[in-house]
Parts: sequence; C-alpha cells; structure tokens
Amino acid sequence: MVRHLLRDDDLNPAEQRQVLELAWRMKEDRFGVHPLAGPRSVAVIFDKPTLRTQLSFTLGVVELGGYPMVVDGNLAQIGVRESIADTARVIGRQAAAIVWRTYDQSRIEEMAQRSGVPVVNALTDQFHPCQVLADLLTVAEQHDGVEGLPGLTLGYLGDGANNMAHSYLLGGATAGMHVRIGTPAGRQPDPAILADAQRIAAVTGGSVLVTDDPAAAVAGADVVATDTWVSMGDQRAADEAEALFGPFRLDAARLAGAAPHAVVLHCLPAYRGKEITDEVIEGPQSVVFDEAENRLHAQKAVLTWLLERAGEG
Ligand code: CP
Repeated sequence: MVRHLLRDDDLNPAEQRQVLELAWRMKEDRFGVHPLAGPRSVAVIFDKPTLRTQLSFTLGVVELGGYPMVVDGNLAQIGVRESIADTARVIGRQAAAIVWRTYDQSRIEEMAQRSGVPVVNALTDQFHPCQVLADLLTVAEQHDGVEGLPGLTLGYLGDGANNMAHSYLLGGATAGMHVRIGTPAGRQPDPAILADAQRIAAVTGGSVLVTDDPAAAVAGADVVATDTWVSMGDQRAADEAEALFGPFRLDAARLAGAAPHAVVLHCLPAYRGKEITDEVIEGPQSVVFDEAENRLHAQKAVLTWLLERAGEG
C-alpha cells in the first residue's frame, strides 16, 4: 500500500519516531542517502506562496539524488483546468512522489487517492505536518535526542484554528508531549482534530489543552511556539487581528512564564511586533533558524521513509 503524509497522524508514534531518528541521522550524514538516484523526479507543486518549503524540498530532492520538478500552481490550475484525479494520474506516471501546498485538505486527499505514488502535504488550510516534524527535530536537538520528546510541554500562542495549531495538536500528541493551545474564544481548534489529538495523547501519555488564558498556555512550558495571526488566504484585517490576538503576543514578559530552559519556535515568516517581539525572536531562547534548517532534514527523511514503503527506496 502506498503511504502518504497528508496530516500529522498519518504517522503513528513508532513511525514518527522512525522518521525523526532518520532525519537526525541524515542531518549528520547530509549527502550520504540517495533513494532518488537515477535521477527520479519529485513533483513539488505550490498553489500558495512559499520560501522555506520550496527551498527545502528543492534542495532536499537534489540531495537525495533526484530531480525536483517544481510546478507553479497558478499555471497548472489543478481542479480548474483539469480535475485533481486526472492531474494525479498524469503526475503519478512520471514522478516518484508528489509534494503539494494547496488549500483545502480534501484536495490533497483526492490527489493521494489517485496518484499511485506517495503524496506529502507541504501545507494545507488545515495542517502543516512537515513543519511540525521539523519543529520536533529541533526540540529533540535541545533534549539530546528523539527519546527526549515524550513528557515535554509545548505551549502555543495565537490562532488556535489554523494549520499550525492543528498540526501541533496531532504531531505533539503523537510524540507524547503535553500540548497547550492558548487562543481567544472563537478561534479554538477544529473539534474533530482536537478529539483525534486527545485519543492519540491517551495512548502516548501526552495531553492536550485549549485555553483562552495565554499565561496558562505557557506556564512552565519547555517549548513556546507561535505563528502569524493572519494565515495565507485569511482576509482578516490587521486591526481586527491585533484586537483578537494581541493578548497572545509572545513577548519577553510572556516568555518569562515558561520554564527557564524553554526554547522558542516560529515556523516563519514572522511578523515582528505582531505575534512575536523582536526581542524574543532574536533572544537566546529562540531556535527559529535551526527550525527553518530542519525543514530540509525532516522532509528528506519523510520522502526516504515513504519511498521505502512504496517499494521505491
Ligand atoms: N514555514 C513555511 O512553511 O515557510 P514558507 O511559507 O516560506 O514555505
């Protein structure tokens, strides 16, 4: 059966650990693994803006010995010019895998159903699983390995209904972490995703909490994360976002409520003075540029792991 990474819980706890440990090893031996030698191609498609994701998947596919076939979604117009199903079958005949940044999760699910090759979610409106794998690798580096993740507390501040909050819930629970989402009333996570995270946490020994108290979300946390207040495609006005999320800004005073050893994550791009202050993102607890680099290593591991299971690696 062809495996995909469409949402964070497509990897069970043991599989997530395998991917993270592979990423760790591949970071140490950056040019030593070539499952795409040939070169075989990976279609990397963007319906939305990107810097880090295009950079890291393009370089990552090259480092795996393959050819990254970057497709501009504005030209391809998937689902408009032709159906997702036809597109999936065309690409699946030529590429070893498909990486797609798109809008609704249903689009990437349909691609995966029809492609015949592994499909990787490079961000949808609902999830950003590659980012959270990179984040977990970054946290693991601060705790001497992947085995250090279970039991850690991650406090997230900001929009609880966006893709990063959802992926922290699922990916963090899978890692056995205690995930707290600090978000204003009316921006809570999708209840179905929250319920999935609760089910996973009950198995892994983690936990999930949603609170409208930003101090409670970060109190004693080992990791403090935030994200833009206005996600891609969100039409929310800047002044509306400030009124809604201002109390959830990650500034030095808020960070002081976390554990003294806490590290700060932000998936970038950051809007300094909005969701995070310059002082915090440039401060000694910030690991955001390790996090950005770790997209490369985490995604190379995901592709390698999926290709091995597709009988392609
Ligand atoms: N964090 C992230 O996905 O960055 P880009 O939007 O620049 O790809």
